[in-house]
Amino acid sequence: METILVERRERVGMITLHRPKSLNALSRQLAREVVDTLKTFDADDNIGAIVITGSARAFAAGADIEEMANLTYAEFYCDDIFAPWDELRSISKPIIAAVSGYALGGGCELALMCDFIIASEDAQFGQPEIKLGILPGIGGSQRLANAVGKSLAMDLVLTGRTIDVHEAKAAGLVARVVPGKELLQTALEAAHTIAGYNSPAVRMAKEAVNVAFETSLTEGMRHERRLFQAAFATEGQKEGMHAFIAKRAPVFRHR
Ligand code: HXC
Repeated sequence: METILVERRERVGMITLHRPKSLNALSRQLAREVVDTLKTFDADDNIGAIVITGSARAFAAGADIEEMANLTYAEFYCDDIFAPWDELRSISKPIIAAVSGYALGGGCELALMCDFIIASEDAQFGQPEIKLGILPGIGGSQRLANAVGKSLAMDLVLTGRTIDVHEAKAAGLVARVVPGKELLQTALEAAHTIAGYNSPAVRMAKEAVNVAFETSLTEGMRHERRLFQAAFATEGQKEGMHAFIAKRAPVFRHR
């Protein structure tokens, strides 16, 4: 890998975006490397949750503007240049974005693609594409509107202004705000907690919440009920409940 650093910490897989000269601009190579690594983690029984982070200065400052500047419509269309990012939707294990510094354009969109965001006090979020004569391209207009509602999403997408972490937290974009030096530890602890649970149930829970953004309440409830019933086909359900009754800690086998 040339654009990211990959680590395994017990049952947590960690991806650090690493293009410091361009504030982790999301090049095509970086997209491929992130997605390939996520797929590897997703297929690995020894990994139960994933953290994506950047540097202290930038989670990611957007798509790589230099790489994009001279592309034509035909190149974008025929090569479907952002298609790798769509593959994130197929990752069944939880992904936490640990965001410090700039999360702009595609960087904000990548954070939004993750399952939740833990951010440091200096994090900044925005969709400044409009200033470049374009608009969000990997789901920002959709996921941002889902996360913060129409009015603030329109404000950010149409004016290109950046919001600080407190506005982002108040709007529901960010789950937790922590001091910068605690960011990684907090994200890893959350990921370790998740990775310690019954893995099929964790993945079902992620699937169930995601369905809420894609279908009607009736369909979503039906989907949740089927997943709930399916959880009773897992060893982890038996272990979790019998451990509770026996007043001992559960030991999940993650399968
Ligand atoms: C390529 C980038 C970059 C980017 C920063 N750099 N952002 N290179 N693509 N998105 C480079 C700069 O050119 C500079 O390189 C170095 O990183 C440091 O950036 P500075 O501008 O010198 O830093 P600073 O003054 O602190 O300003 C930080 C910043 C600014 C506010 C984040 O860099 C900025 O506005 N960046 C662009 C943000 C943006 O518009 N993002 C949306 C991109 S479009 P040198 O060589 O000069 O040191 C997009 C579309 C989404 O994301 C589609 C889906 C992927």
